[in-house]
Amino acid sequence: MADEAPIGVFDSGVGGLSVLAEIRQLLPAETLHYVADCGHIPYGEKTPAFIRERCQLIAARLHAQGAKALVVACNTATVAAVADLRERYPQWPIVGMEPAVKPAAAATRNGRVGVLATTGTLQSAKFAALLDRFALGVQVLTQPCPGLVEQVERGDLHGPETRRLLQGFLEPLLAAECDTLILGCTHYPFLRPLLAELVPPEVILVDTGAAVARRLQSLLAVAGRLASGPAGPTRIWTSGPPTELSAVLPQLWPAGAEVKAFV
Ligand code: DGL
Repeated sequence: MADEAPIGVFDSGVGGLSVLAEIRQLLPAETLHYVADCGHIPYGEKTPAFIRERCQLIAARLHAQGAKALVVACNTATVAAVADLRERYPQWPIVGMEPAVKPAAAATRNGRVGVLATTGTLQSAKFAALLDRFALGVQVLTQPCPGLVEQVERGDLHGPETRRLLQGFLEPLLAAECDTLILGCTHYPFLRPLLAELVPPEVILVDTGAAVARRLQSLLAVAGRLASGPAGPTRIWTSGPPTELSAVLPQLWPAGAEVKAFV
């Protein structure tokens, strides 16, 4: 039996739309409910307790909407809150995100990997455990990127200030000759065109959006809850002003969607 219940997806803001795009591509028939917590951006500079509280609130709303699965489309929210969410909803399929250390360790040719992510992600015990587990024999350089998420939120994917910030964050990683860079925040895949101008062509860029979509598909398949039939709708809520998100949406979600207030 096809299952038409929505899939709930959320992020601190618009970054998770990069993950939503992978989900939409892999699962065209699904109904997608996306919450952007734009009123509380950036999570990367907030305390884990604050992030956990926001995540519980958003997850509760998506659960009440009948979501058959939850995707935490944010690395920072995952490290702060995914364990908590799994404890609260033990029966609910929940997919989190983590920086792509394992694929990067497999992809690097010179054993030097750079990680671009938020301060919150890079300082977490969960990230340290990820390195211990998968970065064996690989030198990993981490680079927090304060300010970059805000540029993506403004829809400034290519302007001089975004370029200046990104160039500064890349400099130490490229100087150390990292041949593989992890985009460890869901906002950063939107900067791939700019990154392509700023890093040498042989540098490999990895993110986990597609892997998250595949994981979601497999969990729904096992539960017998995949939708089938015509293209499903996408609905978006934001805790910031809906007009602000609507203004940047054409760049980040070209298919368009109505944006409602999350209150
Ligand atoms: N998009 C989020 C992530 O993947 C973080 C953005 C923020 O700092 O709010 O880590």
